[in-house]
Amino acid sequence: MSWWLWIPVVVGALLVGTVVYDLVQRKHSILRNYPIVGHLRFALERVGPELRQYIVTDNDEERPFSRDQRRWVYASAKGENSYFGFGTDNRPDEPGYPIFRHCAFPFTPPADDDGSVPAAKILGARTGRPGAFRPESLVNISAMSFGALSGPAIEALNRGAARAGCLHNTGEGGISTHHRHGGDLIFQIGTGCFGARDARGRFSLDALLESMADAPVRAIEIKLSQGAKPGLGGVLPAAKVTKEIATARGVPVGVTVHSPSRHSTFRDVAGLVEFVEEIAAATGVPVGIKSAVGELGFWDTLAAEMAKTGGGPDFATVDGGEGGTGAAPAVFADHVALPFRDAFPRVFDAFARHGLHHDVVFVGSGKLGFVPDAAIALAMGVDLICVGRDAMLAIGCIQAQKCHTGHCPTGVATQNPRLARGLDPTDKSVRVGTYLEAFRHDLMTLANAMGHEHPSLIGPEQIAIRGDGGRLIDAVDALGLDRRWYDERRRESLRTTLRDGG
Ligand SMILES: Cc1cc2nc3c(=O)[nH]c(=O)nc-3n(C[C@H](O)[C@H](O)[C@H](O)COP(=O)(O)O)c2cc1C
Repeated sequence: MSWWLWIPVVVGALLVGTVVYDLVQRKHSILRNYPIVGHLRFALERVGPELRQYIVTDNDEERPFSRDQRRWVYASAKGENSYFGFGTDNRPDEPGYPIFRHCAFPFTPPADDDGSVPAAKILGARTGRPGAFRPESLVNISAMSFGALSGPAIEALNRGAARAGCLHNTGEGGISTHHRHGGDLIFQIGTGCFGARDARGRFSLDALLESMADAPVRAIEIKLSQGAKPGLGGVLPAAKVTKEIATARGVPVGVTVHSPSRHSTFRDVAGLVEFVEEIAAATGVPVGIKSAVGELGFWDTLAAEMAKTGGGPDFATVDGGEGGTGAAPAVFADHVALPFRDAFPRVFDAFARHGLHHDVVFVGSGKLGFVPDAAIALAMGVDLICVGRDAMLAIGCIQAQKCHTGHCPTGVATQNPRLARGLDPTDKSVRVGTYLEAFRHDLMTLANAMGHEHPSLIGPEQIAIRGDGGRLIDAVDALGLDRRWYDERRRESLRTTLRDGG
């Protein structure tokens, strides 16, 4: 055979070898799902920065997450060098740009510091719940259900949560086998009450207790709404209601499931507080709510009712309007509910006016998975940060924005078994655990530079924000905070927990 006839043979053998390697390796979901073709993505990614620098977008342009932000998550998740060289390529002169005021004499952590960054408040202390506890981690994983995410993705998040000592919120789809890999859970009760409903779809305390019986549920979250689709219910089409999903949700297999836009168990704030108390009394664990912020009267009425009764939610998760979702109509994702920085101060203010801000635990979510955003949230009064899409990035999401189609190429937000197969939960759990640890570490480093032993002690007076006219404005004014709630008493109250633990 002439030598040139060997060329196609060798090329063919190389291609077959590559296909076999791609299918067998467990590191890259894209290659497992798209052998050979998937390599193109890596090649383009490698030369992408150079191409884009001249032709398309810069490092801070893309949304929801810019390339710089994604790069930071990917590098942190892989334990790679996440430093940036040659100085910033941001525009510190742009309106809204935050600057943190570091100290001339930063805080030096003790030599025996173990690197942990627990919360500075105790969940359930105000109401004396038997299961009150101090969350081990300031950063935790947001609600994302099995259904919106694939089984391997949920497993990776749960294993990663266990690794990083975080809480893993189940989302509104109940508890599945994928949630049982060692990570502590927050069980979310959405409007469909999945995992906590009777045959007619109404809330059932017995079903809730049954779901929790053999699962490490540390707290319960009643979801009123989420930032990307407030005031909306949802539909899970029959084709997606597999046996596994049906079991986790407590619904029949292969039948379309509707979740309404609101809970049917209570109709007003007093009813919500009673519902919280009923669940807390039966389960013993802290119970909170999650909501996006629209009408403000709700928060004032809630805080007043809590102050009057001494009961009610142990924590309030405030989700910014910029939050993520598996699927939502554009107008809801784009225009309904306040963005986090507008929303949170109003909620904090409502609780503070009723004297509850030192005791209620505030959880923040909505693009807070990056150090500057998280630090500003903490300074505004947030006690726990929850990350959703950032955790998805850490397990391989490439921001393809196909969650609503079921065709997520990385196997994260899909129920397609062929695509989900590409995501190796063991490998990806290490990544998400490493990202969460790196994030906490970077937050702590910033707090130390600002003179504190804990990130929750960062105050808004230590932050300046570039105003429209180009001048730097104190964050207290730029964010519309009420100075009365951000005095030394707030720090003293947090220091008590930091000192005495819990
Ligand atoms: C795929 C996906 C599924 C989600 N599912 C839920 C859910 O079941 N319940 C809920 O309260 N929020 C859900 N969310 C919203 C997140 O919990 C979070 O509040 C929001 O994405 C903002 O956080 P992030 O910017 O860190 O992603 C979901 C978000 C995504 C991206």
